[in-house]
Amino acid sequence: KTVKVRDVDMYEAPGTSIYVSKDHIYRLEETNNFEIRSDDIWVITYPKCGTTWTQEIVWLVCNNADTETANAVELDTRFPFFEYPFINRRPTIRKMPSPRLIKTHLALPVLPYQIVEKKPKIIYTMRNPKDTCVSMYHFIKMLTPFNYKGNFEEFAKEFFMGVTVGHGSFWDHHRDYWRLKDEMNILILKYEDLITDLAKEVKKIAAFLDKELTEEQVQTIVEHCTFKTMKNNSASNQSHMQNIGFTRAGMGDFMRKGKIGDWKNYFTPELNNMVDQLNKKYLEPEGLTFDYE
Ligand code: A3P
Repeated sequence: KTVKVRDVDMYEAPGTSIYVSKDHIYRLEETNNFEIRSDDIWVITYPKCGTTWTQEIVWLVCNNADTETANAVELDTRFPFFEYPFINRRPTIRKMPSPRLIKTHLALPVLPYQIVEKKPKIIYTMRNPKDTCVSMYHFIKMLTPFNYKGNFEEFAKEFFMGVTVGHGSFWDHHRDYWRLKDEMNILILKYEDLITDLAKEVKKIAAFLDKELTEEQVQTIVEHCTFKTMKNNSASNQSHMQNIGFTRAGMGDFMRKGKIGDWKNYFTPELNNMVDQLNKKYLEPEGLTFDYE
């Protein structure tokens, strides 16, 4: 089954309701059979929900708040992206010493099979759909392969249909992982909670990963992970994407606003109503709600 998104054919991944590009389809089998270790730590998110932020925090929690290395070594090297576009990172990830820290945006139905039996620790960061959509709109415009020229309204309709970014729908992605919230090996975080009380969330992550941090280390992590500090840190502000030609210069920064509630500057009452209805349909019955301001 295929669907056209701006003249690009998107294919339904076998056994799922996820639309992916042809390139992804070819990689599915290799993904399915990827060898998992039980001491892996996976950060899983729908794109634009605070992945980079969560990665930087988790890396520091696992490495005694070593900000010196965090400033010197690119985050993507310390914490590779499982389905990285253009460059196949799998050979590198296979050889990494344990515990491996791995980032992915894969939806639950397309995770490697062994995740179920090996039960690595998974940290899933969620974000409210309205701010995620605005963040994604700006990001898509930066991406060279998409060359997106549509306006926000057009983008938002596609985004909420779930065909824009090749990682399935926002709703299914969030709902599927949320349903695992009571599993011992999963910690669910919300972007809005990171904004509200970062120290509290750092401690939550440390407890989940069985890491003991001093109060001073928690403070070091909090200071290193503010929006401003991360935006100015070339090892964690994703500027490498531009260096490899994945994003275009002059189209804004990856570290854009870092706020709750920017959606109010973009949403028409009609769009807002549509998203509220989708929320009622998909997430509220599951007991999943978000802060919007
Ligand atoms: P905005 O576009 O709303 O600013 P991801 O890493 O999943 O792609 O998410 C990117 C979003 O997280 C962007 O949101 C980015 O600014 C925000 N972000 C990254 N680091 C942050 C931080 N330290 N504090 C607050 N927001 C952060």
